[in-house]
Amino acid sequence: MADPRTPVVLYGGSGYVAGELFRLLAAHPGFRVAAFVSHSQVGQFVSDPFPHLHGAARGARFVGAEEALASVADCPAIAACFATPHGETARQVCAALDLIEGRGQQVRIIDLSADFRLPAETFARLYGTEPAAAQRLEQFTCALPDLAHTALAGTGTLQHIAHPGCFTTAVTLAAYPFLVRGWVEPDLFVSAVTGSSGSGRMPTGGTHHPDRAHNLYAYAPLAHRHEAEMRRLLTIDGREPEVEFVPHSGPFVRGIHATLRFRLRGERTLDELRGAIDATYAGSAFVASTAIPPQLRMVVGTNHARIGLAVRGRTLVVTSVIDNLVKGAAGGAVQWMNRLFGLAPESGLSHDGLGWY
Ligand SMILES: NC(=O)c1ccc[n+]([C@@H]2O[C@H](COP(=O)([O-])OP(=O)(O)OC[C@H]3O[C@@H](n4cnc5c(N)ncnc54)[C@H](OP(=O)(O)O)[C@@H]3O)[C@@H](O)[C@H]2O)c1
Repeated sequence: MADPRTPVVLYGGSGYVAGELFRLLAAHPGFRVAAFVSHSQVGQFVSDPFPHLHGAARGARFVGAEEALASVADCPAIAACFATPHGETARQVCAALDLIEGRGQQVRIIDLSADFRLPAETFARLYGTEPAAAQRLEQFTCALPDLAHTALAGTGTLQHIAHPGCFTTAVTLAAYPFLVRGWVEPDLFVSAVTGSSGSGRMPTGGTHHPDRAHNLYAYAPLAHRHEAEMRRLLTIDGREPEVEFVPHSGPFVRGIHATLRFRLRGERTLDELRGAIDATYAGSAFVASTAIPPQLRMVVGTNHARIGLAVRGRTLVVTSVIDNLVKGAAGGAVQWMNRLFGLAPESGLSHDGLGWY
Protein backbone atom coordinates (compact mmCIF):
# COMPACT_ATOMS: atom_id res chain seq x y z
CA MET A 1 0.00 0.00 0.00
CA ALA A 2 1.28 3.49 -0.85
CA ASP A 3 2.56 5.55 2.07
CA PRO A 4 -0.19 8.16 2.77
CA ARG A 5 2.21 10.64 4.38
CA THR A 6 3.22 13.75 2.42
CA PRO A 7 6.84 13.54 1.23
CA VAL A 8 9.21 16.25 2.40
CA VAL A 9 12.47 17.21 0.73
CA LEU A 10 14.70 18.58 3.45
CA TYR A 11 17.56 20.96 2.60
CA GLY A 12 20.19 21.91 5.14
CA GLY A 13 22.31 18.77 5.49
CA SER A 14 24.40 18.68 8.61
CA GLY A 15 23.08 22.01 9.96
CA TYR A 16 21.52 22.34 13.40
CA VAL A 17 18.05 23.37 12.21
CA ALA A 18 17.97 20.63 9.55
CA GLY A 19 18.79 18.10 12.28
CA GLU A 20 15.86 19.35 14.34
CA LEU A 21 13.55 19.19 11.33
CA PHE A 22 14.64 15.61 10.71
CA ARG A 23 14.03 14.74 14.39
CA LEU A 24 10.51 16.24 14.36
CA LEU A 25 9.49 14.87 10.96
CA ALA A 26 10.72 11.34 11.76
CA ALA A 27 8.04 11.17 14.48
CA HIS A 28 5.34 12.98 12.48
CA PRO A 29 2.22 11.01 11.50
CA GLY A 30 1.50 13.07 8.37
CA PHE A 31 4.92 13.68 6.78
CA ARG A 32 7.93 11.58 5.80
CA VAL A 33 11.39 12.81 4.88
CA ALA A 34 11.68 11.54 1.31
CA ALA A 35 15.18 12.96 0.83
CA PHE A 36 17.69 14.85 2.97
CA VAL A 37 19.84 17.18 0.85
CA SER A 38 23.42 18.10 1.76
CA HIS A 39 25.93 20.05 -0.33
CA SER A 40 29.03 18.69 1.46
CA GLN A 41 28.05 15.23 2.76
CA VAL A 42 26.40 13.46 -0.17
CA GLY A 43 26.57 9.69 0.41
CA GLN A 44 27.35 10.05 4.14
CA PHE A 45 25.04 8.60 6.78
CA VAL A 46 22.59 11.12 8.27
CA SER A 47 23.54 9.69 11.67
CA ASP A 48 27.18 10.82 11.22
CA PRO A 49 26.58 14.52 12.02
CA PHE A 50 23.50 13.61 14.11
CA PRO A 51 24.52 10.62 16.26
CA HIS A 52 21.58 11.29 18.61
CA LEU A 53 19.21 10.55 15.68
CA HIS A 54 20.47 7.04 14.89
CA GLY A 55 16.98 5.57 15.44
CA ALA A 56 15.20 8.04 13.18
CA ALA A 57 17.96 7.93 10.57
CA ARG A 58 17.93 4.10 10.26
CA GLY A 59 20.74 3.95 7.69
CA ALA A 60 19.52 6.99 5.67
CA ARG A 61 22.15 8.87 3.66
CA PHE A 62 22.39 12.45 2.44
CA VAL A 63 21.73 13.03 -1.25
CA GLY A 64 22.33 15.89 -3.70
CA ALA A 65 19.48 18.20 -4.73
CA GLU A 66 19.01 16.62 -8.17
CA GLU A 67 18.67 13.11 -6.75
CA ALA A 68 16.32 14.39 -4.05
CA LEU A 69 13.97 16.05 -6.54
CA ALA A 70 14.07 13.02 -8.86
CA SER A 71 13.02 10.79 -5.95
CA VAL A 72 9.71 12.67 -5.57
CA ALA A 73 8.95 13.08 -9.29
CA ASP A 74 5.87 10.83 -9.07
CA CYS A 75 4.34 12.47 -5.99
CA PRO A 76 1.36 14.76 -6.67
CA ALA A 77 2.09 17.03 -3.68
CA ILE A 78 5.31 17.65 -1.80
CA ALA A 79 6.71 19.91 0.88
CA ALA A 80 10.23 21.30 0.75
CA CYS A 81 11.95 22.76 3.82
CA PHE A 82 15.06 24.90 3.51
CA ALA A 83 17.39 25.22 6.52
CA THR A 84 20.29 26.57 4.48
CA PRO A 85 22.31 29.82 4.66
CA HIS A 86 20.77 33.05 3.37
CA GLY A 87 21.73 33.92 -0.21
CA GLU A 88 22.37 30.29 -1.09
CA THR A 89 18.80 29.39 -0.11
CA ALA A 90 17.10 31.64 -2.68
CA ARG A 91 19.14 30.04 -5.48
CA GLN A 92 18.25 26.52 -4.33
CA VAL A 93 14.58 27.43 -3.83
CA CYS A 94 14.38 28.82 -7.38
CA ALA A 95 16.01 25.75 -8.89
CA ALA A 96 13.63 23.47 -6.98
CA LEU A 97 10.51 25.50 -7.82
CA ASP A 98 11.37 25.75 -11.52
CA LEU A 99 11.73 21.97 -11.74
CA ILE A 100 8.73 21.03 -9.57
CA GLU A 101 6.35 23.55 -11.16
CA GLY A 102 7.54 22.43 -14.60
CA ARG A 103 6.50 18.87 -13.69
CA GLY A 104 3.03 20.10 -12.69
CA GLN A 105 3.32 19.02 -9.04
CA GLN A 106 1.89 20.89 -6.08
CA VAL A 107 4.57 22.15 -3.75
CA ARG A 108 4.76 24.20 -0.56
CA ILE A 109 8.08 25.68 0.46
CA ILE A 110 8.96 26.54 4.05
CA ASP A 111 12.13 28.64 4.16
CA LEU A 112 13.94 29.20 7.44
CA SER A 113 16.57 31.54 6.03
CA ALA A 114 16.15 35.30 5.67
CA ASP A 115 15.92 35.24 1.86
CA PHE A 116 12.16 35.76 1.49
CA ARG A 117 11.34 37.56 4.74
CA LEU A 118 11.82 41.20 3.76
CA PRO A 119 11.02 43.56 0.88
CA ALA A 120 13.86 43.69 -1.66
CA GLU A 121 15.10 47.14 -0.68
CA THR A 122 15.19 46.29 3.07
CA PHE A 123 17.01 43.04 2.33
CA ALA A 124 19.57 44.84 0.15
CA ARG A 125 20.21 47.44 2.86
CA LEU A 126 20.69 44.89 5.63
CA TYR A 127 22.48 42.11 3.76
CA GLY A 128 24.52 44.25 1.40
CA THR A 129 23.28 42.46 -1.70
CA GLU A 130 20.14 42.33 -3.80
CA PRO A 131 17.87 39.35 -2.99
CA ALA A 132 18.85 36.42 -5.21
CA ALA A 133 15.23 35.69 -6.18
CA ALA A 134 13.34 38.99 -6.09
CA GLN A 135 10.96 37.63 -8.75
CA ARG A 136 9.69 35.04 -6.24
CA LEU A 137 9.35 37.32 -3.19
CA GLU A 138 5.62 37.85 -3.63
CA GLN A 139 4.96 34.12 -3.48
CA PHE A 140 6.24 34.01 0.11
CA THR A 141 4.43 35.07 3.27
CA CYS A 142 6.55 36.00 6.26
CA ALA A 143 4.49 35.35 9.38
CA LEU A 144 4.33 33.30 12.57
CA PRO A 145 1.93 30.35 12.50
CA ASP A 146 0.35 31.43 15.79
CA LEU A 147 -0.49 34.79 14.18
CA ALA A 148 -1.43 33.39 10.77
CA HIS A 149 -4.58 35.53 10.67
CA THR A 150 -2.39 38.64 10.37
CA ALA A 151 -0.89 37.25 7.17
CA LEU A 152 -4.19 36.02 5.78
CA ALA A 153 -5.73 39.45 6.23
CA GLY A 154 -3.44 40.76 3.48
CA THR A 155 -3.82 38.15 0.75
CA GLY A 156 -6.36 35.58 1.87
CA THR A 157 -4.10 32.80 0.60
CA LEU A 158 -0.81 31.29 1.61
CA GLN A 159 1.51 29.74 -0.95
CA HIS A 160 5.03 29.51 0.44
CA ILE A 161 6.27 30.53 3.88
CA ALA A 162 9.31 32.53 4.96
CA HIS A 163 9.53 31.73 8.66
CA PRO A 164 10.64 34.73 10.74
CA GLY A 165 13.96 34.59 12.60
CA CYS A 166 14.29 33.14 16.09
CA PHE A 167 14.68 36.47 17.96
CA THR A 168 11.79 37.83 15.88
CA THR A 169 9.64 34.91 17.00
CA ALA A 170 10.28 35.41 20.72
CA VAL A 171 9.74 39.18 20.54
CA THR A 172 6.78 39.31 18.15
CA LEU A 173 4.77 36.74 20.13
CA ALA A 174 5.34 38.79 23.31
CA ALA A 175 4.63 42.23 21.85
CA TYR A 176 1.70 41.62 19.50
CA PRO A 177 -1.11 41.19 22.11
CA PHE A 178 -0.45 44.66 23.55
CA LEU A 179 0.27 46.55 20.33
CA VAL A 180 -2.81 45.18 18.58
CA ARG A 181 -5.02 46.36 21.44
CA GLY A 182 -3.42 49.81 21.45
CA TRP A 183 -2.68 49.41 25.18
CA VAL A 184 1.01 50.42 24.83
CA GLU A 185 2.94 53.12 23.03
CA PRO A 186 4.31 51.70 19.75
CA ASP A 187 7.83 52.12 21.04
CA LEU A 188 9.64 49.23 22.73
CA PHE A 189 13.06 48.37 24.06
CA VAL A 190 14.11 44.72 23.79
CA SER A 191 17.03 42.92 25.39
CA ALA A 192 17.35 39.24 24.45
CA VAL A 193 19.84 36.47 25.22
CA THR A 194 20.38 33.54 22.87
CA GLY A 195 22.17 30.23 23.23
CA SER A 196 25.10 29.30 21.02
CA SER A 197 23.11 27.01 18.67
CA GLY A 198 21.60 30.22 17.26
CA SER A 199 24.87 30.77 15.38
CA GLY A 200 24.79 27.48 13.49
CA ARG A 201 27.28 24.64 13.32
CA MET A 202 30.40 26.38 12.00
CA PRO A 203 32.39 28.00 14.83
CA THR A 204 33.68 31.53 14.33
CA GLY A 205 35.74 33.82 16.56
CA GLY A 206 32.71 35.17 18.42
CA THR A 207 30.84 31.86 18.66
CA HIS A 208 33.64 29.48 19.67
CA HIS A 209 33.06 27.67 23.00
CA PRO A 210 35.83 29.41 25.01
CA ASP A 211 34.41 32.79 24.00
CA ARG A 212 30.84 31.91 24.92
CA ALA A 213 31.04 29.57 27.91
CA HIS A 214 31.02 31.40 31.28
CA ASN A 215 30.59 34.66 29.39
CA LEU A 216 27.80 37.09 28.46
CA TYR A 217 27.98 39.93 25.99
CA ALA A 218 25.86 42.10 23.72
CA TYR A 219 26.43 41.94 19.97
CA ALA A 220 25.13 44.13 17.16
CA PRO A 221 23.28 46.41 19.65
CA LEU A 222 20.66 48.46 17.74
CA ALA A 223 22.04 46.92 14.52
CA HIS A 224 20.78 43.32 14.41
CA ARG A 225 19.02 42.29 11.20
CA HIS A 226 16.05 40.79 13.06
CA GLU A 227 15.01 44.28 14.22
CA ALA A 228 13.62 45.00 10.75
CA GLU A 229 11.60 41.76 10.85
CA MET A 230 10.15 42.72 14.26
CA ARG A 231 9.15 46.17 13.00
CA ARG A 232 7.50 44.63 9.96
CA LEU A 233 5.57 41.90 11.78
CA LEU A 234 4.47 44.33 14.49
CA THR A 235 3.19 46.95 12.05
CA ILE A 236 -0.51 47.24 12.83
CA ASP A 237 -2.93 49.28 10.70
CA GLY A 238 0.04 50.70 8.81
CA ARG A 239 1.77 51.97 11.96
CA GLU A 240 5.33 50.64 12.32
CA PRO A 241 6.52 50.61 15.93
CA GLU A 242 9.88 51.91 17.08
CA VAL A 243 11.97 48.89 18.18
CA GLU A 244 15.33 49.20 19.92
CA PHE A 245 16.85 45.73 20.05
CA VAL A 246 19.98 44.62 21.90
CA PRO A 247 20.79 40.91 21.47
CA HIS A 248 23.19 39.08 23.78
CA SER A 249 25.20 35.89 23.54
CA GLY A 250 24.47 33.63 26.51
CA PRO A 251 26.53 30.76 27.95
CA PHE A 252 24.06 27.98 27.08
CA VAL A 253 23.28 25.99 23.92
CA ARG A 254 19.54 26.24 23.29
CA GLY A 255 16.94 28.87 23.94
CA ILE A 256 16.14 32.57 23.76
CA HIS A 257 15.09 34.72 26.70
CA ALA A 258 13.74 38.12 25.63
CA THR A 259 12.83 41.06 27.88
CA LEU A 260 10.60 43.79 26.40
CA ARG A 261 9.84 47.12 28.03
CA PHE A 262 6.73 49.13 27.09
CA ARG A 263 5.05 52.32 28.28
CA LEU A 264 1.34 51.63 28.93
CA ARG A 265 -1.11 54.21 27.57
CA GLY A 266 -3.29 53.73 30.66
CA GLU A 267 -2.95 51.65 33.80
CA ARG A 268 -3.88 47.96 33.48
CA THR A 269 -4.06 45.16 36.03
CA LEU A 270 -1.86 42.11 35.76
CA ASP A 271 -4.98 39.98 35.18
CA GLU A 272 -6.06 42.19 32.26
CA LEU A 273 -2.59 41.99 30.74
CA ARG A 274 -2.36 38.20 31.12
CA GLY A 275 -5.82 37.95 29.65
CA ALA A 276 -4.63 39.78 26.54
CA ILE A 277 -1.93 37.16 25.95
CA ASP A 278 -4.18 34.20 26.55
CA ALA A 279 -7.01 35.64 24.43
CA THR A 280 -4.61 36.37 21.54
CA TYR A 281 -3.31 32.81 21.57
CA ALA A 282 -6.52 31.01 22.50
CA GLY A 283 -6.35 29.28 19.13
CA SER A 284 -2.73 28.17 19.54
CA ALA A 285 -1.66 25.18 21.58
CA PHE A 286 1.85 26.55 21.83
CA VAL A 287 1.76 30.07 23.30
CA ALA A 288 0.58 30.92 26.82
CA SER A 289 1.21 33.30 29.71
CA THR A 290 2.88 32.22 32.94
CA ALA A 291 2.16 33.24 36.53
CA ILE A 292 5.89 33.29 37.32
CA PRO A 293 8.68 34.70 35.13
CA PRO A 294 9.18 32.12 32.35
CA GLN A 295 12.38 30.06 32.26
CA LEU A 296 14.17 28.41 29.36
CA ARG A 297 13.68 24.98 30.86
CA MET A 298 9.90 25.39 30.46
CA VAL A 299 10.30 25.30 26.68
CA VAL A 300 13.67 23.91 25.56
CA GLY A 301 13.19 20.97 23.20
CA THR A 302 9.55 21.92 22.60
CA ASN A 303 7.52 24.08 20.24
CA HIS A 304 6.16 26.17 23.11
CA ALA A 305 6.56 29.86 23.90
CA ARG A 306 5.92 31.13 27.42
CA ILE A 307 5.31 34.78 28.23
CA GLY A 308 5.48 36.45 31.66
CA LEU A 309 4.57 39.94 32.83
CA ALA A 310 5.40 42.56 35.42
CA VAL A 311 3.62 45.91 35.72
CA ARG A 312 4.22 48.99 37.85
CA GLY A 313 2.23 52.11 37.06
CA ARG A 314 2.66 52.73 33.33
CA THR A 315 5.70 50.46 32.95
CA LEU A 316 5.06 47.04 31.44
CA VAL A 317 7.85 44.46 31.26
CA VAL A 318 7.21 41.30 29.24
CA THR A 319 9.54 38.29 29.26
CA SER A 320 9.37 35.60 26.62
CA VAL A 321 11.15 32.25 26.22
CA ILE A 322 11.39 29.88 23.25
CA ASP A 323 13.73 27.19 21.96
CA ASN A 324 15.48 28.91 19.05
CA LEU A 325 15.90 25.64 17.13
CA VAL A 326 12.31 24.43 17.63
CA LYS A 327 9.75 27.23 18.08
CA GLY A 328 12.19 29.67 16.44
CA ALA A 329 12.85 27.43 13.41
CA ALA A 330 12.09 23.70 12.90
CA GLY A 331 8.96 23.52 15.07
CA GLY A 332 7.56 26.70 13.55
CA ALA A 333 8.15 25.18 10.12
CA VAL A 334 6.28 21.99 11.05
CA GLN A 335 3.46 24.10 12.50
CA TRP A 336 3.14 25.88 9.15
CA MET A 337 3.32 22.58 7.25
CA ASN A 338 0.49 21.18 9.38
CA ARG A 339 -1.59 24.20 8.44
CA LEU A 340 -0.73 24.20 4.74
CA PHE A 341 -1.48 20.48 4.41
CA GLY A 342 -4.67 20.52 6.52
CA LEU A 343 -3.31 18.53 9.47
CA ALA A 344 -4.09 19.07 13.15
CA PRO A 345 -2.02 22.03 14.47
CA GLU A 346 -0.29 19.92 17.12
CA SER A 347 0.58 17.02 14.80
CA GLY A 348 4.14 15.94 15.47
CA LEU A 349 4.66 18.76 17.96
CA SER A 350 2.91 17.65 21.13
CA HIS A 351 5.98 16.34 22.98
CA ASP A 352 7.13 17.90 26.26
CA GLY A 353 10.64 19.15 27.03
CA LEU A 354 13.37 17.57 29.11
CA GLY A 355 13.31 20.05 32.01
CA TRP A 356 16.87 19.24 33.05
CA TYR A 357 19.46 18.70 30.34
N1 LIG B 1 20.21 28.25 14.47
C1 LIG B 1 19.04 28.87 14.74
O1 LIG B 1 18.66 29.02 15.93
C2 LIG B 1 18.17 29.37 13.62
C3 LIG B 1 16.89 29.82 13.96
C4 LIG B 1 16.07 30.32 12.93
C5 LIG B 1 16.52 30.33 11.63
N2 LIG B 1 17.78 29.87 11.34
C6 LIG B 1 18.19 29.89 9.93
O2 LIG B 1 18.12 28.54 9.46
C7 LIG B 1 19.17 28.30 8.51
C8 LIG B 1 20.03 27.16 9.03
O3 LIG B 1 20.57 27.55 10.29
P1 LIG B 1 21.51 26.57 11.11
O4 LIG B 1 21.69 27.21 12.43
O5 LIG B 1 21.04 25.18 11.03
O6 LIG B 1 22.87 26.74 10.30
P2 LIG B 1 24.09 25.72 10.16
O7 LIG B 1 24.14 24.85 11.38
O8 LIG B 1 25.25 26.51 9.80
O9 LIG B 1 23.63 24.80 8.95
C9 LIG B 1 23.49 25.24 7.63
C10 LIG B 1 23.78 24.06 6.74
O10 LIG B 1 23.44 24.39 5.41
C11 LIG B 1 24.14 23.50 4.57
N3 LIG B 1 24.50 24.19 3.32
C12 LIG B 1 23.88 24.04 2.14
N4 LIG B 1 24.42 24.79 1.20
C13 LIG B 1 25.43 25.45 1.78
C14 LIG B 1 26.37 26.39 1.30
N5 LIG B 1 26.40 26.79 0.02
N6 LIG B 1 27.25 26.88 2.19
C15 LIG B 1 27.25 26.49 3.48
N7 LIG B 1 26.37 25.58 3.99
C16 LIG B 1 25.47 25.08 3.13
C17 LIG B 1 25.35 23.00 5.36
O11 LIG B 1 25.18 21.59 5.54
P3 LIG B 1 25.72 20.58 4.39
O12 LIG B 1 27.12 21.00 4.12
O13 LIG B 1 25.60 19.24 5.01
O14 LIG B 1 24.81 20.81 3.24
C18 LIG B 1 25.24 23.68 6.69
O15 LIG B 1 25.58 22.83 7.76
C19 LIG B 1 19.94 29.63 8.37
O16 LIG B 1 19.44 30.34 7.27
C20 LIG B 1 19.62 30.34 9.69
O17 LIG B 1 19.71 31.74 9.58
C21 LIG B 1 18.61 29.39 12.31
